[in-house]
Amino acid sequence: DTTLVADLNARLRDVPDFPKPGIVFKDITPVLADPRLFGRVINAMAAPFRGQHITKVVGVEARGFLLGAPIALALGSGFVPARKPGKLPHRSIVERYSLEYGADGVEMHEDAILQGERVLVVDDVLATGGTAEATAKLVKRLGGELVGFSFLISLDFLEGPQRLGRDKVTTLLTF
Ligand code: PRP
Ligand code: MG
Repeated sequence: DTTLVADLNARLRDVPDFPKPGIVFKDITPVLADPRLFGRVINAMAAPFRGQHITKVVGVEARGFLLGAPIALALGSGFVPARKPGKLPHRSIVERYSLEYGADGVEMHEDAILQGERVLVVDDVLATGGTAEATAKLVKRLGGELVGFSFLISLDFLEGPQRLGRDKVTTLLTF
């Protein structure tokens, strides 16, 4: 899919000073609204992990759900939501982290991943890597094997790939 990067760049919307002054928000909703482009994105984000026997895809609330669930179906894997604290109904484990803007945490059901499962973590944007790192910690605490991370966008100047380990990170677009 050689034109995917160009097509994505044409459709992503930059929103300056959202949600705070100085942040340029990458709005993916125009990509999701286009069924052909959305499908190509899911296919391309799943591609590096085909044949890697991924048993669970973890999507990070909220925008990671939008990409993680269809990627799980594409890979023939189960889907696990990693949620903001206080949202999950069953017994959960939590990791706190600091964000590009603000501080937050992420939670997962304690039985969401079984010992030895091969896990892919999916999110829309890799910024500082705090969210993805906390999610990976949850996966490891439950005994999962973290195979890798798949992002639509990486803001490399924030050094997320270094934080997560460059060999584990795949991304469609880099800024
Ligand atoms: C954004 C983005 C990633 C995270 C990246 O989520 O969707 O999840 O920040 O930042 P980091 O690499 O510095 O941790 P956000 O918390 O803004 O909320 P949303 O996905 O619920 O919209
Ligand atoms: Mg998010």
